[in-house]
Amino acid sequence: MEPLSGPPRGGRVPWQDLLLAVSLLTLWNPPTTAQVTVESVPLSAAEGKDVLLQVHNLPGDTARLDWFKGATTENRRIVSYIVDTQKTVSGPAHSGRETVYPNGSLLFQNITLNDTGVYTLEITNRTYDRVQVTGQLHVFAELPKPHITSNNSDPVENVDSVLLTCEPQTQNTSYLWSVSSKSRLASTRLELSLDNRTLTIHGVTRNDTGPYVCATRNPVSDGRSDPFTLNVLYGPDAPTISPSDSYYHPGANLNLSCHAASNPPAQYSWLINGRPQSYTQELFIPNITANDSGSYTCLASNNATHLNKTTVKTITVSEPLAQPSLHASNTTLTEDDSVVLTCSTNNTGVSIGWLFNGQSLKLTERMTLSQDNSTLTIHPVRKEDAGDYQCEVSNPGDSSKSDLVRLAVKDDLTQSSSGLPPGAIAGIVIGVLAGVAVIAALVYFLFIRKTGGMKKLHILP
Ligand SMILES: *[C@@H]1O[C@H](CO)[C@@H](O)[C@H](O)[C@H]1NC(C)=O
Ligand SMILES: *[C@@H]1O[C@H](CO)[C@@H](O)[C@H](O)[C@H]1NC(C)=O
Ligand SMILES: *[C@@H]1O[C@H](CO)[C@@H](O)[C@H](O)[C@H]1NC(C)=O
Ligand SMILES: *[C@@H]1O[C@H](CO)[C@@H](O)[C@H](O)[C@H]1NC(C)=O
Ligand SMILES: *[C@@H]1O[C@H](CO)[C@@H](O)[C@H](O)[C@H]1NC(C)=O
Ligand SMILES: *[C@@H]1O[C@H](CO)[C@@H](O)[C@H](O)[C@H]1NC(C)=O
Ligand SMILES: *[C@@H]1O[C@H](CO)[C@@H](O)[C@H](O)[C@H]1NC(C)=O
Ligand SMILES: *[C@@H]1O[C@H](CO)[C@@H](O)[C@H](O)[C@H]1NC(C)=O
Repeated sequence: MEPLSGPPRGGRVPWQDLLLAVSLLTLWNPPTTAQVTVESVPLSAAEGKDVLLQVHNLPGDTARLDWFKGATTENRRIVSYIVDTQKTVSGPAHSGRETVYPNGSLLFQNITLNDTGVYTLEITNRTYDRVQVTGQLHVFAELPKPHITSNNSDPVENVDSVLLTCEPQTQNTSYLWSVSSKSRLASTRLELSLDNRTLTIHGVTRNDTGPYVCATRNPVSDGRSDPFTLNVLYGPDAPTISPSDSYYHPGANLNLSCHAASNPPAQYSWLINGRPQSYTQELFIPNITANDSGSYTCLASNNATHLNKTTVKTITVSEPLAQPSLHASNTTLTEDDSVVLTCSTNNTGVSIGWLFNGQSLKLTERMTLSQDNSTLTIHPVRKEDAGDYQCEVSNPGDSSKSDLVRLAVKDDLTQSSSGLPPGAIAGIVIGVLAGVAVIAALVYFLFIRKTGGMKKLHILP
């Protein structure tokens, strides 16, 4: 059984289908009086190329064709064609580049922008009836490579607005801008002209540097400019002084460097305690002494924006801190004793901190520090207080630790002599003895059972 809805096999077509095809053909038979039309091939033509005004459905009884430039048949006849004699007659509007074909089509060679426009074809039949059809030529120039101009080559950040123009201006051209930068073209500070040919950047910033590219397009060509970069003048921003260290020891070399974001690059100078010192980006003072302490000012200036910015750094040159010494009232302690640790230093203007086993000491309620942190009292002492103590003196630029002082804490003898009370020891001794007795009994019992069993084997069989 074949499926009912299956297609016919073996190339045979059912006669019903043939009938339908025939009736469709009858319906589709185009009317004999089809509309005459004129079509430009190609639709848009580039200047210098050839273009054909193609005539479709030219009536069979055509006796004469006349092509005119413009929308009417007045005066501006280009060419006439007499069908019977196949004769071509040029009119006043013939430029020498137009050719008419027997099928009515008109070829333009080497077209110019001036060829753009409407053309009228008048068809005269053998009974002197006339029909007019119009067609249209669209001629576009090949676009030159565009370039970008700016009305301000060195705009100043946050001061100037810049107008960028895509050159040259050509008719029937669409313009498109693109920019690769941190600011987007959608930014509110950017404004396109109605024809998109100019781009205004309001209150330009250093992020608007670009580069910008403009692209041009018409139906026959497109162009793309070289990237255009704006030289936005900006800065200087507040300078940064490196390295960040502020404290030095005498004899060190002071080597300061200053940097400020700026276009054009900033000019730098240094002032020490307000007095001009050097007109360089870097300041080098070897073998500094305490007298070199003071305020160091970097001045950055931009001679294009006429702006200055300064940053001040305070440098302190001081002798390295002397090591403090730590003394304990007693280092071998018993629980419930008290101990006083004293940190002594010759340095002035330093703060004192305490370390326990190398870590910052966590004060418990049993510990008290003197007002200036120089003495630490522990009362009462506990076993967990045993360990290594250190004190550390520091100022903002330096620090120094004392040697270790080790505190040992022993048990309180009045409370216990060893880890276990006498009763527990007695218990253990009795327990061990009892265990030994049980094991001995077990061994003896097993031995007796074993020898007993063997005796049984000898007796039974
Ligand atoms: C008319 O003749 C020209 C030249 O032979 C040809 O290029 C064109 O395709 C013809 N047009 C039609 C509609 O047949
Ligand atoms: C096309 O026309 C231009 C001027 O309109 C002329 O300079 C050029 O030589 C012409 N080219 C050809 C191939 O006829
Ligand atoms: C450039 O054009 C912008 C926007 O029209 C305008 O604000 C600015 O003053 C112009 N700059 C110069 C130097 O002409
Ligand atoms: C080209 O531009 C001109 C002048 O702006 C205009 O008259 C013409 O219609 C335009 N052509 C096309 C094809 O858009
Ligand atoms: C201008 O460019 C925008 C996109 O950037 C586009 O939507 C608009 O149609 C363009 N206008 C003209 C006149 O080309
Ligand atoms: C430039 O862009 C950066 C990163 O988006 C931003 O941090 C900075 O503030 C912008 N500068 C200006 C002057 O707009
Ligand atoms: C650094 O200066 C001190 C005193 O100002 C001097 O004694 C020492 O020799 C100098 N050292 C160097 C390396 O110049
Ligand atoms: C530091 O300055 C004082 C007074 O200005 C001066 O007496 C002293 O010699 C200076 N010391 C050094 C090492 O330059």
